[in-house]
Amino acid sequence: MQIDRRALLRKLVSYVAASPVIAAAQSAKEGKTTIYPPVYSDEIMGPVNLHEFEPIAKEKLHKLAYDFIAGGVEDEVTLRANRESLECLRIVPRVMTDVSSVDTSVTLLGKKLQSPLLLAPTGGKNLVLPGADLICARAAAQVDCIYSVGGAPMDRLEDEGVELTWWRNTIGQATRDAAQNFARRCDDDGAGAILLTVDNQYQSNRDRNNRNRFDYGYMSGGVPEEGVEREPRNPAVAAMLLPHTPGMTWEYMEWIRQVSDIPVVVKGILHPEDAAAAVEHGASGVVVSNHGARQLGSVVASIDALPDCVQAVGGRVPVLMDGGIRRGTDVLKALALGASAVQIGRPYLWGLAAFGQEGVQRVYELLAAEIRLAVALAGKKDLASIDSGMVRNPQCGL
Ligand SMILES: Cc1cc2nc3c(=O)[nH]c(=O)nc-3n(C[C@H](O)[C@H](O)[C@H](O)COP(=O)(O)O)c2cc1C
Repeated sequence: MQIDRRALLRKLVSYVAASPVIAAAQSAKEGKTTIYPPVYSDEIMGPVNLHEFEPIAKEKLHKLAYDFIAGGVEDEVTLRANRESLECLRIVPRVMTDVSSVDTSVTLLGKKLQSPLLLAPTGGKNLVLPGADLICARAAAQVDCIYSVGGAPMDRLEDEGVELTWWRNTIGQATRDAAQNFARRCDDDGAGAILLTVDNQYQSNRDRNNRNRFDYGYMSGGVPEEGVEREPRNPAVAAMLLPHTPGMTWEYMEWIRQVSDIPVVVKGILHPEDAAAAVEHGASGVVVSNHGARQLGSVVASIDALPDCVQAVGGRVPVLMDGGIRRGTDVLKALALGASAVQIGRPYLWGLAAFGQEGVQRVYELLAAEIRLAVALAGKKDLASIDSGMVRNPQCGL
């Protein structure tokens, strides 16, 4: 058979023209350049996704500390469900929509974020490193995200000239006086909001901690070194009934409102009627969350609880979500189901344990970069154009 040289040449030209390398060169000519996430040392750039920080952290942490962070409550059914339900969802992307520039910014309570991603409150960080709350706060300032924190002295950051929007996390106070003093302090300290955790009525039943004879006192001072005796403060015992704020009701919100205009964001909502109640009692935001599967066992996965809560809130305030978020596509799914933004907990603690402040930054920036790419490849140029039609749940017939 004779070779048709012209046809061959045409084929070659069209093949070269279709090549992504040529497309990239053409894009560069048009002023469109590749955007890389910030680069760190080779060691920190080792993990290529959020999952891969965990084994590095595990290697470096005391077993009691690792189990405290990694674990969920009882049989860890919900811990698995948080991931399984996210993975169960499938994205149906759009094409031919001109995504040559992508904007993943969102404004929450007046603060513009470049990515719809926050660092969730995580108590007990001193199990990882002394002063861990401030280390994470510096990382949050560096990536310019909102950081929620319990008791850490945030005025130290001001002294250092670090600028950060931070929310004060609390499980509430038992009396009106204590609640009102707390709200005044938050105002004075410059907190952007109170993040009120409402699913922590009692210490939960975490088998790993019970088995390890973990002492909740270690959360502030770390696990004692081998051979060092420490007074037991709060030993974990299976199914103990250790009260945190069991008497708290929606009246708490009124107590705060009487003395302060500080926004209150309510975290730990899974039932749509509670989502609606939070808004009716003056919440400025709602976080659909099962506390990273660490409070009541066998509760619904956060992503499964999200759509009904979003509907109940009806756009009156932003709805955030956390629990199992590990990939940019997870975030895309949560946004499609109505979340304004999401939080991560364990992943940034693994970043912290693995590589300190830069590890936290890298975890955040890697996920933010994945979000940007996921939005672009889904054919969306900004978060406002993401809609519920983009996700399907083949198992549940969504
Ligand atoms: C070690 C650890 C400590 C936590 N401490 C708190 C806390 O003090 N207050 C709170 O509201 N949530 C707390 N959480 C829950 C997180 O705020 C968040 O809801 C959860 O970690 C999100 O799930 P993820 O870890 O799968 O991202 C904690 C989570 C972890 C892993």
